[in-house]
Amino acid sequence: DLPALARAHGVDLGVAVAVEPLLRDGDYQDVVEGHYTSVTAENTMKWEHVQPERGVFDWSGPDAVVGFAEDRGMNVRGHTLLWHNQQPEWLSQGEWTSDELRGVLREHMEALMGRYQGRIGAWDVINEPFEDGGPFLRENLWYQVLGEDYIAEALRMAHEVDPQARLYINEFNIEGGGAKADALYALAADLLDRGVPLHGIGFQSHFVHGQVPENLAETMTRFTDLGLEVTVTELDVRIAEPVSEEAVQEQREEFRHVVAACLDVPACQGVTVWGVSDAHSWIPEWFPGYGAATPFDEDYAPKPALWGMVDALSRE
Ligand code: G3I
Repeated sequence: DLPALARAHGVDLGVAVAVEPLLRDGDYQDVVEGHYTSVTAENTMKWEHVQPERGVFDWSGPDAVVGFAEDRGMNVRGHTLLWHNQQPEWLSQGEWTSDELRGVLREHMEALMGRYQGRIGAWDVINEPFEDGGPFLRENLWYQVLGEDYIAEALRMAHEVDPQARLYINEFNIEGGGAKADALYALAADLLDRGVPLHGIGFQSHFVHGQVPENLAETMTRFTDLGLEVTVTELDVRIAEPVSEEAVQEQREEFRHVVAACLDVPACQGVTVWGVSDAHSWIPEWFPGYGAATPFDEDYAPKPALWGMVDALSRE
């Protein structure tokens, strides 16, 4: 019983969910509620879905995800408030003064965070602020209009809107350390020095089979030593095709390693897997030639990766 094991360790084991199968596919629902303690909306809480036109909000997807979780006593991670991707055109193509853009951001936060206040405990406020390869801040809309302090501004605003929520910066390609992780560390340390309400760092953890960083727990500990919490927010381990049985077996140890790393770090809140099954994973579309990145196969059969997570959670 994976949820019971996770709860016994005081961590969440989560999964990213899509609205359509969550509403209609009984096997999909069974995998989610049978194996996980929390969910993240894979897409439906992103700006283009929530506020496709200015001032026009679509709560059908977010309500479905939050309702599913609440009916089953599961937690929800909020994903995501500021990101350069999946912004509606009216936002990304708009000509904004800094005050207008601040107003738009506040409206969005008040609507979205406000609707689920007390029901969504942690939010990815800032998603992927650094360039893909790092270590420089991405010059996204927010950066261009508000300057580099948009991050502090957005965190302060989010804290005003929902003072109880745990506020995260969520980033990728930081898990094994390196220049991008160093830059994020410097940013986080500076924000904390200035009293900015930052509570956690999301380690997305989109890994490649054979290249899962050994030192994941050490990297997380650098951040928790600052007084922050950490969460593995988007775990998957993609395998190059043709996917061999050997690789699928080796993936067991890779999923075990990531969950064990989280358990080794006291302030690690949990691990979320990015996609319910290999049939729902973003990997084949985005990395042609790769697949098999999640703990369930295309027919919802559990893979060795799932037993790897059980292995990690079964220790005392
Ligand atoms: O919404 C349209 C739909 O109208 C259209 O008919 C359909 C046709 O292809 O496309 C739909 O858009 C898809 C969208 O997800 C659904 O909201 C896109 O094709 C698809 O490419 C898009 O991909 C998502 C991606 O973020 C977008 O950047 C993935 O599902 C999602 O897993 C991925 O998640 C991100 C995290 O949020 C942040 N970290 C990285 C991670 C992986 O990229």
